[in-house]
Amino acid sequence: MIILAVESSCDETSVAVVRDGREVLSNVINSQIEIHKVYGGVVPEIASRRHIEVIDAVAQEAMKNAGIEQNELDAVAVTYAPGLIGALLVGTSWAKGFAYAANLPLVPVHHIKAHICANFIQNPLLTPPFVCLVASGGHSHIVLVRDYTEFEVLARTRDDAAGEAFDKIARILGLGYPGGPLVDRLAKEGNPDAVQFPRVRFPDGCLDFSFSGVKTAVMNYTHNLEQRGESWDRADVAASFQKAVVDVLCSHTLEAAKRMGITKIALAGGVACNSALRAQMKAQAEELGYTLDYPAPVLCTDNAAMVGCAGYYEFLKGTRADLHLNARASMELV
Ligand code: KG4
Ligand code: ZN
Repeated sequence: MIILAVESSCDETSVAVVRDGREVLSNVINSQIEIHKVYGGVVPEIASRRHIEVIDAVAQEAMKNAGIEQNELDAVAVTYAPGLIGALLVGTSWAKGFAYAANLPLVPVHHIKAHICANFIQNPLLTPPFVCLVASGGHSHIVLVRDYTEFEVLARTRDDAAGEAFDKIARILGLGYPGGPLVDRLAKEGNPDAVQFPRVRFPDGCLDFSFSGVKTAVMNYTHNLEQRGESWDRADVAASFQKAVVDVLCSHTLEAAKRMGITKIALAGGVACNSALRAQMKAQAEELGYTLDYPAPVLCTDNAAMVGCAGYYEFLKGTRADLHLNARASMELV
């Protein structure tokens, strides 16, 4: 079963060809990072326009790289929610047009589910159930993956997403956009115990996240020192901030797994690229005798291969969209 998959929810235009859900024949990603960098973040209208400019060429390249002709395709899968509405509309409209012209079934895919499914591509032997931490620029969820298309949200962020916090701290530190990889790199030169930034835990055993406090704490720390004419160490602040976020992500995820009686953990989303998160989660999971999966970086950040994988399992379940399919800026996971 060969699926043409489309992703355009933020600032990556991506088209992939995926066989039987887990074999990636091609995964072309056209990133707009260079375009948005000068603004310090994604400008939605510019993102939409760029998607329109490149999506045809990206799709052509994906088919060519896969060595697949249009008549060999069995279905089209597309991210239709959640994300930037104008950006989502481009991929959704393109996929509807292509599916109609090629007379192929159209499968709508939820972006967060696609992020989780990147793990099925990375590890062909991975099977549900497992507990997945999804941490990206727009989302921070702990999800119980009951089955390939069955998900339960165990915890979510009450304010900022983890990736958003990384991007904001990067701005305070005078690094570029996107901030996550730059904070990650700078943190390697700093002392993670130099500053104690807060680790938020809600009462009554709730495992939800809150990252706006740690962001404010970093701002207050640097401003206070500057007002007193004292200097602060950028690498130490980067490392200490990262440690505060990673501590919370790890402890909440492992606690969620423990409560569910599940010993399989996975990571997903752009923040799953973070070297400290991977290392700490690996060490703590090993200590508990849990297994840990995470996708290669190219499958953590936005890409269409993960959409092809999620689309395959949705297709098997019978999920279909007609030409009335609309993009949605927000949508719950279940
Ligand atoms: O999943 P993704 O590509 O897009 C969304 O769906 O949001 O995630 C992008 C986010 C950005 O906030 C970026 O700063 C963060 O993932 N990120 C990282 C790292 N690489 C990307 N955060 C921390 N450490 C990294 N190495
Ligand atoms: Zn994403």
